[in-house]
Amino acid sequence: MRGKLITLEGIDGSGKSTVAKKIQENHKISVFEPVFTREPTRGTLTGNAVEKTIQSDTDQLAELFLFTADHAEHLAKLVKPALENGKTVISDRYSDSRYAYQGITLKNRLENPLEWVKSLHRGWTVVPDLTFLFDIEPEIAVERCGKRGEQTKFEKIEFLRGVREIFLSLAAKEPERFVIVDASCSPEYVEKTVVQKILEFVQED
Ligand code: TMP
Repeated sequence: MRGKLITLEGIDGSGKSTVAKKIQENHKISVFEPVFTREPTRGTLTGNAVEKTIQSDTDQLAELFLFTADHAEHLAKLVKPALENGKTVISDRYSDSRYAYQGITLKNRLENPLEWVKSLHRGWTVVPDLTFLFDIEPEIAVERCGKRGEQTKFEKIEFLRGVREIFLSLAAKEPERFVIVDASCSPEYVEKTVVQKILEFVQED
């Protein structure tokens, strides 16, 4: 039986990666031996290229293609083989990040960037079975990023407001796939909520 694909999405500073790390350490989920992964990928040719674009002022369209190339590599080398082996895959960011972030970076370049970026994925991507959207006010998120001493070109309140809006619109369109988590709550509460839902989901079949 094909495994389940679970993704974690949200704006920068939503606490998603911290919770992902905690879930990875949580023995309740380890019982199912999930494969933990992320986008952008780490230590790969495509992932390294993406890391460089994030730190530079690369053309937004070129940036989209690099993120998408990294997705193709991620799917081919890790996600698809793991799912075919019946594994549960948990990915910290996935295609919805592209729809939301590049949906904003390309807004002055294309008429309907969200639909265009989505159509670019059609026919070859694997749609997640369950997606957690870590939802938070951009003001709080940017403050959190500042405290961590991180500052990338994407961590701007106005920009993240647009990204959040797209994430919420994606969730509204596919309520059966998305679970919206209030990421302004304590990390302990968020972790507990997400772990509980994942356990219910993997035990459903
Ligand atoms: P990270 O903070 O989760 O490592 O992600 C790196 C940044 O790249 C983050 O600001 C979100 C952004 N991003 C995109 O713009 N498009 C994408 O497709 C992905 C996966 C991430």
